[in-house]
Amino acid sequence: MTNATGSTRARRGAARWPWWDWWIDRKTRWARDPVKQLDEDTFRTLAVGTGLPPIYQKSTFPFRSARDGASRFLGMSKHGERPYARIYTRLGNPTTEYLERLLFQLEGHHVIEKALAADEREPTLGCLITASGMGAISAIVLSVVSAGDAVLAGNVYGCTDSLLRGLGKLGVHAIFGDMADLDAVDATLDAHPEIVAVLLESPENPTLRVADVEAISHRCERRGVLLVVDNTFCSPWLQQPFRLGADVVIHSLTKFVNGHSTSVGGAILGPFRFMKTDLFPWYKDLGATPSPFDSWLDAMTVQGLAIRQRAQSESAAAIARFLREHRHVAGVHYPGLDDFPQADIVKRQMRDGGSIVAFEVRGGIPAGEALMNYFARKDTPMELAVSLGAAISYIEHPASMTHAVVPPEARLARGITPGLIRLSVGLEGTPTLIEHLDRGLDVAHR
Ligand SMILES: Cc1ncc(COP(=O)(O)O)c(C=O)c1O
Repeated sequence: MTNATGSTRARRGAARWPWWDWWIDRKTRWARDPVKQLDEDTFRTLAVGTGLPPIYQKSTFPFRSARDGASRFLGMSKHGERPYARIYTRLGNPTTEYLERLLFQLEGHHVIEKALAADEREPTLGCLITASGMGAISAIVLSVVSAGDAVLAGNVYGCTDSLLRGLGKLGVHAIFGDMADLDAVDATLDAHPEIVAVLLESPENPTLRVADVEAISHRCERRGVLLVVDNTFCSPWLQQPFRLGADVVIHSLTKFVNGHSTSVGGAILGPFRFMKTDLFPWYKDLGATPSPFDSWLDAMTVQGLAIRQRAQSESAAAIARFLREHRHVAGVHYPGLDDFPQADIVKRQMRDGGSIVAFEVRGGIPAGEALMNYFARKDTPMELAVSLGAAISYIEHPASMTHAVVPPEARLARGITPGLIRLSVGLEGTPTLIEHLDRGLDVAHR
């Protein structure tokens, strides 16, 4: 591709979005970063925050004066809150705003530092909390597409997949591709100039294949396409996609950030001007509003995120090594294994291999079912359940559970085989989990 073609295509981003050039300038100078992680001390300090706020269990907020009310509806406030705050909880709530600031700093601390050093007055990034991860994904997708556009997605979570397919009835086309194959990504972007956004997860759920986010971000930027990274599997502790060139980062907070399976929540982070002009109207109108109590819970649980995830990752790495050698296991997918096929990308963009392990049990579906039924018992340390990232370990069967909505042929093409089992490793302790996996696998093969 020539420079001329490349820049013509980048103009497409500017033609589509008035904030595109503003953002590419900030992204190039501040967001992309040679240092891929926030250092641990800073991360932990930011996550603990400044003390939990009260739970503002209120739907509406009195204005100080008629002028104050009118200014707030113009997105202005003299008191340093985020735009449109303190009007009505669907538009913003002080407890939720506190959580927004925490996440914004964990994902974008380096951007804030560099913007402050450059004496920038306008925020570079924004953060909005939603009632669920799917609330975040629906809001972001609807805010960027129009009829005739397409979204290119990797092997995404089942409901993200069905949301994108469902948009077909509004004239928005979903294209699915292999995000690990950069040539295929290039070819698809070239063949479909109607693609406005690429949506990917890395590691992918549940196969754990990773995408080279940095390489894909350059490909998107050259063509004026928005790169949206679902960072749920990592949380900001394991991976910070803005440093890799992502334009928008989304989370299901239900997973690692909550970490205790006590609430459902989501987050969207992205260029401030985009958030204010394009995303916020969809956010407030779709109404995926988090409850102040759930925001408070997540603001509390995020405090121990680094410690929890470090322990979970250590356990998961030991379990992956144990399973790899087990006679009843045919294969293990874990990004932290030295012989993981994309280990070089993992080292470049993730802090460690994370706490999700996928594996194939010998004996096919009957053996897999027997193993899961073993963990459905109350006297075993895991739960047979479909979430992940919690203190409690979960075992599940993607083909019949989380990814059942993905058409069978698409599932197989993406490596979601009938025998694949996903494990989310919690905090019960490595010896206990290994002992029970060993017993469960034996029971499954009796
Ligand atoms: C990677 C990923 N993204 C998004 C979601 C949706 O999140 P929520 O269940 O909070 O709506 C999930 C849920 O499992 C997920 O695994």
